[in-house]
Amino acid sequence: MKNSDLLEIAAQFGSPVYVYDSEKISTQYHRLSSAFKKVKQVKFNYAVKALSNVSILKIMKSLGAGLDTVSVQEVRLGLHAGFAPENIIYTPNGVSLEEIERVSKMGVQINIDNLSILEQFGTKYPNVPVCIRINPHVMAGGNSNISVGHIDSKFGISVHQIPHVLRIVENTEMNINGVHMHTGSDILDIEVFLYASEILFDTAKHFKNLEFIDFGSGFKVPYKPNDIETNIEELGEKLTRRFNSFCKEYGKDLTLGFEPGKFLVSEAGNFLTKVNVVKQTTSTVFAGVDSGFNHLIRPMLYNSHHEIININNPEGKERFYSVVGYICETDTFATNRRISEIKEGDILAFKNAGAYCFSMASNYNSRYRPAEVLWHEGSAHLIRKRENFEDLLHNQVEIEINSEAVPAN
Ligand SMILES: Cc1ncc(COP(=O)(O)O)c(C=O)c1O
Repeated sequence: MKNSDLLEIAAQFGSPVYVYDSEKISTQYHRLSSAFKKVKQVKFNYAVKALSNVSILKIMKSLGAGLDTVSVQEVRLGLHAGFAPENIIYTPNGVSLEEIERVSKMGVQINIDNLSILEQFGTKYPNVPVCIRINPHVMAGGNSNISVGHIDSKFGISVHQIPHVLRIVENTEMNINGVHMHTGSDILDIEVFLYASEILFDTAKHFKNLEFIDFGSGFKVPYKPNDIETNIEELGEKLTRRFNSFCKEYGKDLTLGFEPGKFLVSEAGNFLTKVNVVKQTTSTVFAGVDSGFNHLIRPMLYNSHHEIININNPEGKERFYSVVGYICETDTFATNRRISEIKEGDILAFKNAGAYCFSMASNYNSRYRPAEVLWHEGSAHLIRKRENFEDLLHNQVEIEINSEAVPAN
């Protein structure tokens, strides 16, 4: 998308506003599928948590993706978007048996990540095939909050507990049809994937009725010009070779699965905000925008980097700015960042705003969540309205409170 398109969208739909480019999503999807084109059966299940707008899910469906979900609500969104239940995998963590049963009854593939629920589910539903999520005990990921495959992580069944899994399978006569891992997000080094994959292959050998092996996700995308990213093409080549040879050993063509979130949508997103105030202090120049960590929490939560472009003045002389939000707490998007000269009223575009941005937005400070716009086939489509005052009150139940009688003097 050109800056002029973004400016028009800000003028038409107001700010702040999230904008997604469907062409970028499609390019990323095709990069992934072409990297793994030499695997007979491959399935990319888009991680709904990254960006769950139904129109985005419909784009994923049109590309041939399935869905990776973590809650019954995500499953329902997927079904609403038109996905067949068999194209959805449900990988919850720490949810109740009741929720898993509910999802299973919808015909969705269940992925279980602890022994207790595995045993309870297997005892009640021995005929429902189940995938198991293992924890390979690999430290990977760009930040400790998004490293989830290490030994202290709450995710997955330890690889050292496979004998326990086998005992449960034998006792319940349940059927394990898939093995899965997801070690973290923003993983740069493909050797980490390949190393963890060997652990998954070793696990897979223990189960005779597998249909798929799911390698999770965690591909790193570029956040800055010339930033490094996971080399998908090289990973595709190396993992394909290894996967195909594993299938031969196993004696069956299995499906190779991935569940990318960030890789598919991160770079497709722009978050547009308007500069309310340029504030020069004795040490810093702040650009205060009409948004905050209520709408884009990643910098405050993970110290994530989002490039910020002044799209009203992209070629202007660069100066140093700290870009901050309007939330009444420290609310910093960027510190002492070089940005072309900013005037009050200018529109700033935050890059990489597709994944884990709107989906983590809240109403903190009683602000409305922003609108979402999809740039599709050369024009802008509103795919979520900006909230309004009625939305803030929507689920509140007001009770009568009598004012205390004021004592007479
Ligand atoms: C189980 C699982 N699969 C896939 C993903 C998507 O990861 P990414 O957005 O890094 O591709 C996540 C992200 O947290 C996850 O927890």
